[in-house]
Amino acid sequence: MKAQHQPITMLTAYDFPFARIFDNCGIDALLVGDSLAMVIRGEDSTLAVTIDEVIYHTRAVVRARRRALVVADMPFLSYQVSPEEALRNAGRLIKEGGAEAVKLEGGIAIAETVRRISAVDIPVMGHIGLTPQSIHRMGGHRVQGRTSGRAPGCRERLLEDAAALEAAGAFAIVVEGVPPSLAREISHRVSVPTIGIGAGPDCDGQVLVMHDMLGLGESTPPRFAKPFAHLWNDAAAAATAYVREVKTLAFPAPEHCYRETRRS
Ligand code: KIV
Repeated sequence: MKAQHQPITMLTAYDFPFARIFDNCGIDALLVGDSLAMVIRGEDSTLAVTIDEVIYHTRAVVRARRRALVVADMPFLSYQVSPEEALRNAGRLIKEGGAEAVKLEGGIAIAETVRRISAVDIPVMGHIGLTPQSIHRMGGHRVQGRTSGRAPGCRERLLEDAAALEAAGAFAIVVEGVPPSLAREISHRVSVPTIGIGAGPDCDGQVLVMHDMLGLGESTPPRFAKPFAHLWNDAAAAATAYVREVKTLAFPAPEHCYRETRRS
């Protein structure tokens, strides 16, 4: 698709109904993101998610999916300790979760791990730029790549990170929270597709967290995340109507009740 300049579409999904809706709508890939910590569990960061939780959600998404690629996120500390542990956990996402690929955050620092996982034919998606598992190094969810240099999160370093991931065998790279010019340069330099989030229009594809895309959050979504619907408000209106109708005895109406006797 990169070669043919066909933009790649990816959304996060964590359960059966939304995975089925997105799959039916022609999404190319579904990501069971560790963002589930924040959008499903209400945590402030992604750090607390466990491999068992990602497996649980991946199984639901895989059951719903008919055609999209399912990528499962490797949670914090499931791949950083050693390549052996990373391989075992990546294998669990494939064997127990049913995912077809795994995603890891980081560049040069995890290149050897990416190489080891790819070597046993588990496709690996990289993730560089604003990497939420590095929240404490970044000092928050902050845009990366604005300053020049080779320290983590700096512009030249991110170019090197992308090259290291490609050389290690990553089949695609998520580029998050960087200025569009850097995302463009990364996308031109690597032969594998880049999937952008908050990285401008020049990546080979785009990904959004489904709750941001659907307007299903209580607070205003980040600047880069366009809400294509307003499901929080729609759900609130529906629940308000339900409460009102139960309180006023308007629901259930006769059409919602079973007959006393069977039809003969
Ligand atoms: O966990 C996630 O949802 C992600 C996307 C933001 C790319 O990693």
